[in-house]
Amino acid sequence: MRPLLITLLLLALALAAACTKEQPTEAPAATPEPVVETEPEIDPATGFKMTGDWELVRGNCTGCHSAKLITQQRGTSQQWLTMIRWMQKKQNLWHFDPGTEERIIAYLSENYPPDAERRRAAIPPNLMPPNPYSTVTLD
Ligand code: HEC
Repeated sequence: MRPLLITLLLLALALAAACTKEQPTEAPAATPEPVVETEPEIDPATGFKMTGDWELVRGNCTGCHSAKLITQQRGTSQQWLTMIRWMQKKQNLWHFDPGTEERIIAYLSENYPPDAERRRAAIPPNLMPPNPYSTVTLD
């Protein structure tokens, strides 16, 4: 009778193992939808990217010059702030309350950030033509 007992014991063990085997708690995740980075639409009138606070920028920044002057420009938030300060000092641009200014700068620096490819590297001095003015002394 021993082999039968051992067989039963093994069967019981196998059954126990099968029952305690971890069941997957969640259905396998569905394949994620591919993330499509959609570029914002462009406002036909101004050329601004129609996202975030673009209307605030349109309202404050297109009264004196074309929006093109802005959309062709690139900069970090610091650089955009510098341009705004320059216009405030020299071009009669009004002052913004801090919240408005922050939102304008956020829109500009997020949508028109510096572009690494915009400037070529400087030409090394040994490849430059001689400078005809270098010997001129001003006195
Ligand atoms: C009160 C008038 C006025 C308003 C409003 C104004 N600007 Fe200007 N801005 C100027 C003038 C004047 C110039 C110089 C134009 C030129 O060089 O032909 C200028 C030039 C610029 C330039 C070009 C700078 C460069 O280095 O070539 C940018 C960029 C610019 N403005 C962005 C803005 C932004 C952003 C706003 C909104 C926050 C704004 N402007 C609102 C008057 C204004």
